[in-house]
Amino acid sequence: MQNFDYMTPTRLVFGENAIEKLPEVMAKIGRRVLLTYGGGSIKKMGLYDRVKELLADFEITELPGIQPNPKYDPSVLEGVRLCKENNIDVILAVGGGSVLDCSKAIAGSAKYDGDPWDIITAKVPTLSALPIVDILTLSATGSEYDSCGVISRTETNDKLAYFSPLVYPVCSFLDPRYTFSVSKKQTAAGCADAMNHIMEQYFCEDATLLNDGFCEAGLKSLMANAKACLANPEDYRARAEMMFACTLGCNGIYALGNSPSGWPCHAIEHALSAYYDITHGEGLAIITPRWMRHILSERTLPRFVKYGINVFGIDASLPAQEIAEKAIDATYAFFEEIGIPMHLREVGIGEERIDEMAHHIAVNEGLDRAYVPLLEPDIAAILRASL
Ligand code: NZQ
Ligand code: ZN
Repeated sequence: MQNFDYMTPTRLVFGENAIEKLPEVMAKIGRRVLLTYGGGSIKKMGLYDRVKELLADFEITELPGIQPNPKYDPSVLEGVRLCKENNIDVILAVGGGSVLDCSKAIAGSAKYDGDPWDIITAKVPTLSALPIVDILTLSATGSEYDSCGVISRTETNDKLAYFSPLVYPVCSFLDPRYTFSVSKKQTAAGCADAMNHIMEQYFCEDATLLNDGFCEAGLKSLMANAKACLANPEDYRARAEMMFACTLGCNGIYALGNSPSGWPCHAIEHALSAYYDITHGEGLAIITPRWMRHILSERTLPRFVKYGINVFGIDASLPAQEIAEKAIDATYAFFEEIGIPMHLREVGIGEERIDEMAHHIAVNEGLDRAYVPLLEPDIAAILRASL
């Protein structure tokens, strides 16, 4: 078991009417608020109006229009400008992972006088940040409980994960009812994203029994509850469990003490969504079974056997290779069953830029140090197998 030093300082307020505590939480932090949100879903579901009512005594500046795969230009730059001009005390992010991530990049750059890209790329360390509070509306990324924000810079095809312990949200409000309106596409993509967060932690060299059990339970919970959410989008119990499983997905708790894996599927997918602006969870679902097939070997076989038996209930008496193959097939079949397009061509990605993306990933992502090291030809092979 590896050493670790762990803290997640975020307060979680979970459940129906959780946001009634919003004024109390915000009042302790500051009165000048930057309210960040996306393309309008929060207005359709009445959440925007409720937030404005709850914060009637606060000074609110708004940054609307944050897109999926949030963009450095304009959203981060505009947010930093608004924070400086209005002397903002706290950012309130209302939306999915993209709104939260963009808000983290803004928070970390708001007190820096240079180019915010210096902060996002860690060329300059984050020495201070504005506090962030969020109201989550989509179960997927775990951004509400981690210190990461993923930002895209269109002109250079970069999609980078910005990390700073200073951008953990101070408080995340999680009311599952605000996810009732999430589309089937985004529900399925969110499930695939959270499942992959767990897989990225499960497939490693040195896992403990404790973490394996935790990960396997997380995967089973996500699969069962995603299906229930798709069958009935207003199934509170299923939305609630899915929300909590996703929240735990990305802050490392599923794998404390495990050896690092290098998060290879994420490294590959981030290039896909940087080059083609696709939905993150869909890209992951497409890549995951191809990556699994690529890394299946004598060395990795025991992990796949354990995964197959404990997550999919595959007959333990079968030959190990057969269990592993069935486990990979079952992973693919589950994503297909929840409606995810399982080929890159179906999300608009062809052969044209495969080599360019493989090169970009190989140069920038350090996958030569992953659980199973991936070099440029490996990455290109995984991408081609995903077409
Ligand atoms: O923009 P609005 O109108 O809000 O619509 C959004 C958006 O179109 C919509 N939506 C959100 N909540 C809704 C809703 N529609 C109806 N009802 C609701 N309640 O869903 C669409 C997608 O939203 P987005 O925030 O982009 O989705 P998600 O939460 O999956 O975030 C994806 C981003 O997070 C990054 C991904 O790379 C991607 O950029 N990630 C962040 C991570 C982190 N911070 O730790 C880790 C992840 O691995 C991931 O990389
Ligand atoms: Zn992810």
